[in-house]
Parts: sequence; structure tokens; C-alpha cells
Amino acid sequence: MGIYSGKNAVVTGGSSGIGLATATLLAVGGARVVITGRSQGALDAARERLGENAVALRGDVSSLSDLDALADGVKAELGTVDALFVNAGITALTPFESTTEEVYDELFAINVKGAFFTVQKLAPLLNTGAGVVLTTSVAGTVGMLDTSVYAAGKAAVRSMARSLSRELLPRTIRVNALSPGPIDTGILERSMTRESAEQFKAERVADNPMRRFGTLDEIAAAAAFLAFDATYTAGIELPVDGGVTQL
Ligand SMILES: NC(=O)c1ccc[n+]([C@@H]2O[C@H](COP(=O)([O-])OP(=O)(O)OC[C@H]3O[C@@H](n4cnc5c(N)ncnc54)[C@H](OP(=O)(O)O)[C@@H]3O)[C@@H](O)[C@H]2O)c1
Repeated sequence: MGIYSGKNAVVTGGSSGIGLATATLLAVGGARVVITGRSQGALDAARERLGENAVALRGDVSSLSDLDALADGVKAELGTVDALFVNAGITALTPFESTTEEVYDELFAINVKGAFFTVQKLAPLLNTGAGVVLTTSVAGTVGMLDTSVYAAGKAAVRSMARSLSRELLPRTIRVNALSPGPIDTGILERSMTRESAEQFKAERVADNPMRRFGTLDEIAAAAAFLAFDATYTAGIELPVDGGVTQL
């Protein structure tokens, strides 16, 4: 018996990085976990790694019809949900002068609209006492170069942790936000050249009080804490960032 035996979890963006690390922690602990993402290849690889406690459902969180299909799939696979980790997200680092409407719309469609409607569509399946964890970012709290649209979106999601808590607490469902500091998941390399990513990462280490990146395990443990253990906590944003937003 693992500590999450009998629990059901959904991790959006569970095919990679922070989401996969959290899905792994929960599945190893005995939870049944649904992971999502757009790439079938990444989902298949993650499902293989997670083992029989995991189910992979493909979908784009910016598409409401995909989210309806996700809710149907989760209902069929899990029935009800104890932990919802709203983690799917992208980044784009561009100077504000050259940020295009296309980049703006994509960031808000996935990171903000996607987060809101993921909660709305899956809320009917959440059990009494369930925990919802929204993924924000240090960029939503401190001003950083080249991140203005991404940062504004994450600040919007941070706000949702408060208002959605108000909406869902009558059902004893807690909504909190988890704000990771720099975690080396490859997300930067997917949005810029390798050289730019290396420079950005070196700057993040230099300005971090702990002088290092956080690990996937450190974020996964915090996500599980907020989802399952923080039973008297609602509407907060938990920074797991080496102290960079606090010191
Ligand atoms: N890594 C960091 O330093 C850091 C710091 C602060 C906050 N964050 C946040 O943490 C979250 C996870 O980031 P990560 O670093 O783990 O990134 P990652 O390794 O790139 O993982 C992102 C996950 O989200 C999925 N995804 C992206 N767009 C999606 C969409 N439209 N619909 C469904 N799934 C989608 C990806 O799969 P597909 O691409 O196949 O869809 C993947 O599974 C993001 O919200 C990010 O903003 C990360």
C-alpha cells in the first residue's frame, strides 16, 4: 500500500518535466493518474515509464472540445478525482517590442484560458476534500526581461487560485498555486535557441540565492503537498524557487 493508494489524480502536461515528475511521485505512491499532453509520442513514452497506475489521454488544454473529451475520459478511467494538477504550459521569451499577436494569443490560450477551463470542466468530478494545484511562475511575481506576456498570464493564474478557491470551497475543494523557480526541464530550449537558453539559465543561477536550479523532485513534492496534505490552506501561491522571490 502506497501513501496515495485509492487516490485518483489528473496531471495536465504530465508527459514531460514537472508534470511527469509529479505523476511519477503519485503513481509510485499508489495513485491512479491520468496524464495529458498534445504529443502522442511523448504520452506513450511517459505512460510506459509510469506503469500500470497511469492512463494517458491526448488533448490540447486550449481547446474546449478537447477538455470536454478529457473530462469524459477521466470519468471513464477514474470516476472521480482527488488531485488536479493544472500544469500544462508553454513559455516564450521575446523582447516586448517584437512580441507578436500570435505569441500573445498562444500564451494566453494555453497558460490562462487552458488553466481556467481545465478546472471548470473537471470540477464536477472533484471529490469532497480534493486539492487543485495551479502552476504559476516566479515570472508572475518579479519583473524579468523578455517575459512580459508569459508573466502576465502566470499572474492571472495566481489570481485564479484565490477566486477559484472561493468558488470551490463550499464543496471543500482547495485551490492553491505552485510557483516553481528555474527547473531544467528543456522548456526553454523548446522556445528559443540553445545559446539563448544557456545564457538565460546562467543568469537564473547567478541571481538565485541558492545559486542553482531546483530539481524535479523538489517541485513534485510541493505539488503533492498542496494537493493532498495542505488541508487548511486555500488560495496561496507556494514559491519553490530557491528564495529568489523572497530574499
Ligand atoms: N521549468 C521551469 O523552469 C518552470 C518555471 C516556472 C513555471 N514553470 C511552469 O511549469 C509548467 C510545466 O513546465 P515544464 O518546465 O515541466 O515544461 P515541459 O517539460 O515543456 O512540459 C510541459 C507539458 O505541458 C504539455 N503541454 C504544453 N502545451 C499544452 C497544451 N496546449 N495542451 C496540453 N498539454 C500541453 C506538454 O506536452 P505537449 O507539448 O506534448 O503538449 C508537456 O507535457 C508550465 O506551466 C510552466 O510554465 C516551469
